[in-house]
Amino acid sequence: IPVDPFDLVIFGATGDLARRKILPALFKRYCAGQMEPGARVIGAARSELSQEEFRNLVRESVEEFTPERARRPGMLAGFLDCLSYLPVDARGSSGWPELAAMMTGDRVRAFYFSVGPSLFGDLARRIREYGMVTEQTRIVVEKPFGHDLDSARALNATLAEHFDESVIYRIDHYLGKETVQNLMVVRFGNMLFEPLWNSQYVDHIQITVAETVGVGGRGDYYERAGAMRDMVQNHLMQLLCLIAMEPPAKFDPDAVRDEKLKVIRALDAVKPHHIVRGQYVADPTQPQLGQGYREEVGNPRSSTESYIALKAHISNWRWAGTPFYLRTGKRLVARSSVINVRFKDAPHSIFGAEAGQHSNVLSIRLQPNEGITLQVTIKEPGPGGMRLVDVPLDMSFAEALGPDGRDTADAYERLIMDVIRGNQTLFMRGDEVEAAWAWTDPVIAGWQSLGDVPKPYTIGSTGPLDADLLMRRDERRWRGIN
Ligand code: BG6
Repeated sequence: IPVDPFDLVIFGATGDLARRKILPALFKRYCAGQMEPGARVIGAARSELSQEEFRNLVRESVEEFTPERARRPGMLAGFLDCLSYLPVDARGSSGWPELAAMMTGDRVRAFYFSVGPSLFGDLARRIREYGMVTEQTRIVVEKPFGHDLDSARALNATLAEHFDESVIYRIDHYLGKETVQNLMVVRFGNMLFEPLWNSQYVDHIQITVAETVGVGGRGDYYERAGAMRDMVQNHLMQLLCLIAMEPPAKFDPDAVRDEKLKVIRALDAVKPHHIVRGQYVADPTQPQLGQGYREEVGNPRSSTESYIALKAHISNWRWAGTPFYLRTGKRLVARSSVINVRFKDAPHSIFGAEAGQHSNVLSIRLQPNEGITLQVTIKEPGPGGMRLVDVPLDMSFAEALGPDGRDTADAYERLIMDVIRGNQTLFMRGDEVEAAWAWTDPVIAGWQSLGDVPKPYTIGSTGPLDADLLMRRDERRWRGIN
C-alpha cells in the first residue's frame, strides 16, 4: 500500500546506521512501490558533501546491502532522484535556513535523529526555531535511549520541551521484526494458546537472543554499555513484554503500550545469584575465529559483559511462580533468536514411568528461519508397544507463506513506513523506556557493588558454564541455540 508523499530528513545520514539500515530499507520500499513520486529523502550531516558524493555513498550502501534489487533496471536511478543532501551543523546555525526553505507544503515531515543522544536537544530546538514544525511533523530517535534512568528521563524531558509524545517515535528495531509482531497475533488471534498462557500451565519461558558477531568497531560504545544495556534493557525487555502482557482491548498504540508498561512495572528486582555475566575469549585451538573481547576493545582489564543470562519474575496474577529466563550474548555458536514457552508436565501419566516424561514446548523463532513450532507428544509409530515420542508441529513462514513469507520486510522498512503512516504501536513510549531503566539500573548497580567479574566463554560456544548451572539449580535446561 503506497503511503502519501513525505519528506524524510535523516540527521547523521553519512553514519553507519543510515548506511547499513535506513537507506537500504528506504530503497527496498521504493522498489516495492511504496514511495510515491514526490517523496523526498534529505540527508543531513556535518560533512561538506556534494549531491553527487552523497548519492554515490547511497549507491554503494544499496549495492552492498540489497545487491539484487540494486541491479533491477531503473530502480537505483529512480531512488537516487528522490535524494538530496545538505550539510547541517546540529550545534550551530549553518544549513538550517536552507533546510527550512526545503520544507514546504502540507505533507508528512519526519526528522530521523540517527545521531548520538547528546545532539537530540540541539536538533529538536533548531527544528522548532526554524519553523519546521507542523501538524504533520514526526521525530524518530534511535537507541541507546539513555544510559540509565536519569539520562533517559533527561532525554525525555528535552524532547518534551519541543514535541508532544504523540509525535515521538523511539525505535527498538526488534519491534519491527515480522515474528515479533506475530507474537501478538499468535497469542490474541487464536483461541488455542491464551487459556493456557499463565503460571498454572506454563512451567517457564526462555528468551534467547544469540549472536555470532562480536563488538567489531563499536568497542567504545560497547565498553560503556555491555549486554545488559545494549540488548536486555530494550530488545529482550520488549520481547518479554509481548509474551507476558495482558490482552489489550484493541490493537491501538496506547492500549498496547499501557499493557507492556504494566509488565515492566510488575518485574521483581533480580537477585544477584540469578545473574550470570560472561565475556568471550579466543579459542587457542582455533585462533582464526578471532580475538577475545578484551583484545578486541583494547582493554585488558575490561569487566564489561558480552553475555548475560538472568532469571526474572513477574509478580502479578498471571505469572506469579513462572520464571522467565533471559539470555543474550555475542560470538556464540549460532545466530538465533527464539522464545520457548515450556508448558508443565501432564499431572499424571497413564502410560507409566517407562513412557518417560514429556512436555509441550511452543518455540517462536524470530530469526533466522522465522516460524513457530509446537512440540507435541505422540505414540511412537509401529508395533513396539506404547512408547511416547515428542514431535514438532512445525510452521516455517517461508514454507507456509511462499515467497511473501520468505521475503519478509526488514524491521527498518516496516518501522519507517509506520512513522510515515503515523502509527506508534511498534515504538516505545517514554514511560516504558524509563520503567525499563528503573528495572535495569539496580541490577547493574548490584553487580558493580559486588565487584563481579564476567565469566569467560570461548568464541563459538553456547556461553559460560555458569549459565547452565543457573538452569540446573532449578532442574531445568536451556533449549539448544541452533
Ligand atoms: C543492536 C545492538 O541494537 O541490535 C547490537 O546494539 C546487536 O549490539 C543488534 O548486534 C542485533 O540486532 P539484530 O537485528 O541483528 O538481531
